[in-house]
Amino acid sequence: MLDLRKDFPILRGTDVVYLDSAATAQRPACVMEAERAFNDERNANPLRGLYAWSMEATEAYERARQTVADFVHARQPEEIVFTRNTTEGLNLIAYTWACTNLRPGDEVLVTVMEHHSNLLPWQMACERTGATLRFLECDQRGVFPEEAMRAAVTERTKLVCMGHVSNVFGRVNPVEKMAELAHSVGALMVCDAAQSAPHIALDVQKLGVDFLVFSGHKLCGPMGIGALWARMELLEDMPPFLRGGEMIEYVTRDSATWAEVPHKFEAGTVNASGAVGLEAAIRYLQTAGLETIESHVNALTERALKGMQALPHVHVIGSENAVEHSGILTFTVDGVHPHDIAAIFDSDRICIRAGHHCAQPLMKHLGVGSTARASIYLYNNEQDVDRFLESLATLRSRMGYGE
Ligand SMILES: Cc1ncc(COP(=O)(O)O)c(C=O)c1O
Repeated sequence: MLDLRKDFPILRGTDVVYLDSAATAQRPACVMEAERAFNDERNANPLRGLYAWSMEATEAYERARQTVADFVHARQPEEIVFTRNTTEGLNLIAYTWACTNLRPGDEVLVTVMEHHSNLLPWQMACERTGATLRFLECDQRGVFPEEAMRAAVTERTKLVCMGHVSNVFGRVNPVEKMAELAHSVGALMVCDAAQSAPHIALDVQKLGVDFLVFSGHKLCGPMGIGALWARMELLEDMPPFLRGGEMIEYVTRDSATWAEVPHKFEAGTVNASGAVGLEAAIRYLQTAGLETIESHVNALTERALKGMQALPHVHVIGSENAVEHSGILTFTVDGVHPHDIAAIFDSDRICIRAGHHCAQPLMKHLGVGSTARASIYLYNNEQDVDRFLESLATLRSRMGYGE
């Protein structure tokens, strides 16, 4: 078993059990230290100044870009655009590529299980361009039948958008297969890697996607920093997203030309300390080893899932197999509203999530109003899981039910 809890200042010396890592992961000391060192030793506006601090800030920022490029196996660092988060990355693609390239009659295919961040930007792009939004349905366990996948991609499809790992099911989706289908009709493929980046070694070339986005805060990095990867040719063709300082080549009174990619997409002062923190988080995960992290998460998920399956009033959504959850256990308890579930867990000093998980169309598809979700990550241990199961086992009686 990994024993990484000690690396996380917030978890030291507390009995709080943190099981909401799919929302935001905790940060190890080395991430805070990397940001502190940047702020203490070289804080200055990067990419602008001609003095040592600014040049060092630029170097640190660009080194972080290289680390992110290696992390997703990009061909070159310029294919990485720093964003605030996954949501911003997806909006960037929608406002630039989609609004420029979609036409009436075109179709954008999304899946029914997408996080709102990978749905609303496509609703907007379709509204503005006259394209049509189509949905790929999954079954109750979160599986996309092969036939449905094939049928959903047509000659009219121009863009396919799929989460790599759903924040409700935790299952790894067939992104590679969908990318193949998309490309067979000349469409592009967007992969939302918000939930997979913390768990799976990403390889954009192997996945065969055209765009991939993720957030730093879900993989032990800071909030307010994320990344978009896209193929270079696409980034070169796309118009800018936000306009202002630092993203230009030349400006006249009434026109402007754009800086080279990726700076064309990074308008205004960038989040350099965030990028440095993200780099430290990536290095932390790489040192622990993504495979080692996954075996640890899977072992704990199995312990939790077995305990949950033994409780007659508890229903876990998705696979019965722990390794198909990426540490995410979404569940309902008969007769207890998810908000009450979360409140009772909170009174036991256990943090879980309750609600629609920003996936309202999926909740409707599954026929549930809302659900509770516990999510396990690298700093959790068996005691955390056992505390979670103890609370869960007594939850109904604490709500006044007889057994
Ligand atoms: C699958 C998925 N996509 C997108 C997001 C949005 O991430 P952010 O809020 O960091 O933009 C989340 C966050 O929960 C997510 O789980």
